[in-house]
Amino acid sequence: MRRSTEMQGARSPALQLLLLSCCVCAAAGYPFKAPLDLDVTPRITVLSSGLQGCRRFQSSAVNYSTMLLEADSERLYVGARGAVFALNASDISASSALTIEWEASPEQKRQCLLKGKDNKTECFNHIRFLQRFNSTHLYMCGTHAYKPLCAYIDEERFVMSSQLEEGREKCPYGPTTGYTALIIDQEMYTASQYEFRSFPDIRRNSPSPTLKTEDAPTRWLNEADFVGSALVRESLGSSTGDDDKIYFFFTERSQEQTTTYSHSRVARVARVCKGDRGGRLTLQKRWTSFLKARLMCSLPEYDFHFNMLRSVFVMRGHMPQDTLFYGIFGLEWKNVKASAVCRFSLSEVQEAFQGPYMENQDADSKWKEYTGKIPDPRPGTCITDALRARGINVSTSLPDDALNFVRRHPLMSQQVQPSDRRPLLFRRTTDYTHMAVHMIQGLDGQKYHVLYMGTDEGWLHKAVEVEGQLHIIEELQLFEEPQPVSNLLISAKQMSVYVGSPSGVLQLPLSNCRRYTSCYDCIFARDPHCAWNGAQCVDIMSHANRSTLIQDIQHGSRGCENTQDDVVQRSRSVRVGDDVLLQCELSSNLATPLWTLDGSELQGYGLNSGFRTGTDGLLIIEARQDQSGMYTCYAVENNIKVAIVTYNVTIRLDLPPPPPVEPTEDPYDLFTTLPAPTEHPSSERPLPPPPAPLLPHSELLSPRNMEAMYLSLITILGGLCVVLTVVLVYVGFCLRVGNRGKYSLRAAAAAYPNIKKHNRNKKQHRSSSHMELKTISSHCNGNGICNGISKQHNGDIQDGGFLQIVPGEAHPSPNKESPPPAPPLPPTPQLPSPECDFPNGLSATLPSVLRRMNGNSYVLLRQSDSENTSPLCYSFAEELNRILEKRKHTQLLPRPDESSV
Ligand SMILES: *[C@@H]1O[C@H](CO)[C@@H](O)[C@H](O)[C@H]1NC(C)=O
Ligand SMILES: *[C@@H]1O[C@H](CO)[C@@H](O)[C@H](O)[C@H]1NC(C)=O
Ligand SMILES: *[C@@H]1O[C@H](CO)[C@@H](O)[C@H](O)[C@H]1NC(C)=O
Ligand SMILES: *[C@@H]1O[C@H](CO)[C@@H](O)[C@H](O)[C@H]1NC(C)=O
Ligand SMILES: *[C@@H]1O[C@H](CO)[C@@H](O)[C@H](O)[C@H]1NC(C)=O
Repeated sequence: MRRSTEMQGARSPALQLLLLSCCVCAAAGYPFKAPLDLDVTPRITVLSSGLQGCRRFQSSAVNYSTMLLEADSERLYVGARGAVFALNASDISASSALTIEWEASPEQKRQCLLKGKDNKTECFNHIRFLQRFNSTHLYMCGTHAYKPLCAYIDEERFVMSSQLEEGREKCPYGPTTGYTALIIDQEMYTASQYEFRSFPDIRRNSPSPTLKTEDAPTRWLNEADFVGSALVRESLGSSTGDDDKIYFFFTERSQEQTTTYSHSRVARVARVCKGDRGGRLTLQKRWTSFLKARLMCSLPEYDFHFNMLRSVFVMRGHMPQDTLFYGIFGLEWKNVKASAVCRFSLSEVQEAFQGPYMENQDADSKWKEYTGKIPDPRPGTCITDALRARGINVSTSLPDDALNFVRRHPLMSQQVQPSDRRPLLFRRTTDYTHMAVHMIQGLDGQKYHVLYMGTDEGWLHKAVEVEGQLHIIEELQLFEEPQPVSNLLISAKQMSVYVGSPSGVLQLPLSNCRRYTSCYDCIFARDPHCAWNGAQCVDIMSHANRSTLIQDIQHGSRGCENTQDDVVQRSRSVRVGDDVLLQCELSSNLATPLWTLDGSELQGYGLNSGFRTGTDGLLIIEARQDQSGMYTCYAVENNIKVAIVTYNVTIRLDLPPPPPVEPTEDPYDLFTTLPAPTEHPSSERPLPPPPAPLLPHSELLSPRNMEAMYLSLITILGGLCVVLTVVLVYVGFCLRVGNRGKYSLRAAAAAYPNIKKHNRNKKQHRSSSHMELKTISSHCNGNGICNGISKQHNGDIQDGGFLQIVPGEAHPSPNKESPPPAPPLPPTPQLPSPECDFPNGLSATLPSVLRRMNGNSYVLLRQSDSENTSPLCYSFAEELNRILEKRKHTQLLPRPDESSV
């Protein structure tokens, strides 16, 4: 629930917050648990910067929405706006891509414009159809600026036939019109509302006779929006001599208003027989086998009906009878995001078509179940052996009374219920657009269905079905710019999932087991592709000898009892009265943190306990000496406690001064407490009062360390000189530039994901003020540039002078946007902003300055000892690495130790 609210909040400034949460290291996970069983939280979150093994294809074209990949194909065909591509399926980013450009002519675009169509979207040639025609040729259709055309593609040479075919009857006119089509034995079946004003229609276009759906006296389709179709070869192994059938999936306006539901739209499945040739007199050139039924996907106990069918995936079994249909459903209310995944078996669908019919006596009355006599042969059935025995071997021989009945009774009374009569998955705040399902046998011998689902904002959710429930293994951010996933395909041969989107095509491995770094991590993930081999989480496909592998998809908890995972050991030395943050990031969104002190659990983290816990660690507030000891952070998941990190915390009255600069063994885990904050001018949040001030500085000067102190002082003063020089240069520079130089240390904060993270988690901490890089007497000059010398609360000027630049309040400059409101922060770790470049070097020294700056902030720099924990912060860690390397050599500042100064 809490997660949902956050997600909703994130939606309005969606992009900024999305990117913000990137830097905020979502690897730490959402701190939220799902209250509703069915509202499933993805176990881990991977941002686009942390995607591994991802390949992309992009070109000048947009709208990569049509994809074709055949079972043993080496090529992935992609239809976009104005172009078709043949990509190497094993690596779509390879330079071997072949292209056919097929744009609408300028004349056609002009006519499109004259028809009042949108020249930014509709007046282009969107490839809507691309499938195999015969062994040597593909067939494609494009909207062609509102005048659809079709063409053959010579597969070997990858060129288009010079002869274009009329596409009016096969392809919709616009890029977003609901549409589905199949080529079966060189006959094309299409379903769409072709022209704007025409009725929706399911057609077989060739050869003649062309068959269509009926519009009068009973309209078979009502504003139908088609999402998918499938051929099921039910003739194979049929004991009754049954025909193959084509199933169509769509949402349409409801006819059957009853008291139990009052929905204006409903999800449907319809079917026709492949051998249908229409009627002789009645239903001439119309389907004689068209029937439709309602697809149900609802949470009856909450009175939630998912009536909008968005996408269908057809999962083929060993036999046609084993076919399963997976559907993604949404709510009718456009402003409410929610998705449900329901699965239907072919036999459930068949049962509905065997059941009673609906009827309405006259146009105005409601549809209700037909209880009268049903003609023989049963209306809407395919030609079977029983009919052939009666001399009816084609649909044109069907008796008129049966066909007349079909004409008026297209709708079945029985609804198609999903397996278990409920969704496999329900998710609020997510709109899934497409999905694909892959089946894999786990080490337990069971066959698992792994679902890959794309969202309208460019995320991919991967989920495994265990006992009728979906466990979301991970959510991957595919694109930095939110955009809907417009197609999804899986290749078992390439072990890849392909994603089409407005901006490009993306190829991802089906699994990435190396992401899991411990046995429990590997087991908790419940990814059927992955197992623990004693040392690593590996892909089971790459292991011939599987007997030693550990996997537990069913429970996600067993098998790791005897494995020893390394626990990170750290120590902290701080002064009495300081606030201390012990970092502990949980990579799983499903884990909860648990802390022990010297082996006993820390109970309650309330206001007076002196502790506060968040998703990223434990905060010791105003440390007391009796709080010294061995702290251990555990991640609790599936009722199993896994130790993550231990801290040996020493809290004492005085501390030795920092020794001379030396490379440290742990250079990235810098931990500093900073003096008490004042409200940051640019912060819009009400912040609680600042915590206690620091002790006087003289305490640091113990005689024993005088020599080291002198050295440090010299170093510090040197550093100060450099900083002041930089400040002067900078101020001079910015003055010259004029009023444009407006900076906030927020920009600096952007370089420190953890700082912002604290901001995000502020509710979990006593105050958010410690998150602000703060302090200082800041007097603004007219240019909105503030600088000052760091001061303590008692007014003493501290040795570590530093620069603070805050946003100007006085002069809103016309040529730039106003600074974004908190919390959205610029996501780039780059300090210089476009308006006014820092003089060279400042960005390199600033991190040291920040660390030295003794605000009450924690300048907590991430440790990069485990790349795995957060791929999201990877680039940041690299950046920091560089900076620290540089500093190590220049030795500007004292050794970054783990103690407060
Ligand atoms: C096509 O791409 C453009 C730009 O990427 C996007 O705005 C538009 O919505 C896309 N249209 C479709 C039909 O995907
Ligand atoms: C596709 O790429 C793979 C690996 O990059 C290469 O081995 C193969 O030859 C390529 N296939 C084609 C058809 O270019
Ligand atoms: C679309 O049409 C408008 C006017 O009808 C014109 O101003 C605009 O430049 C056109 N855009 C494109 C991309 O052709
Ligand atoms: C496939 O269809 C194309 C287009 O009709 C035709 O030119 C080609 O000869 C056909 N190929 C085969 C093998 O039938
Ligand atoms: C259908 O049956 C008639 C005889 O009733 C026969 O002449 C005709 O060849 C049959 N057609 C097919 C396609 O089997």
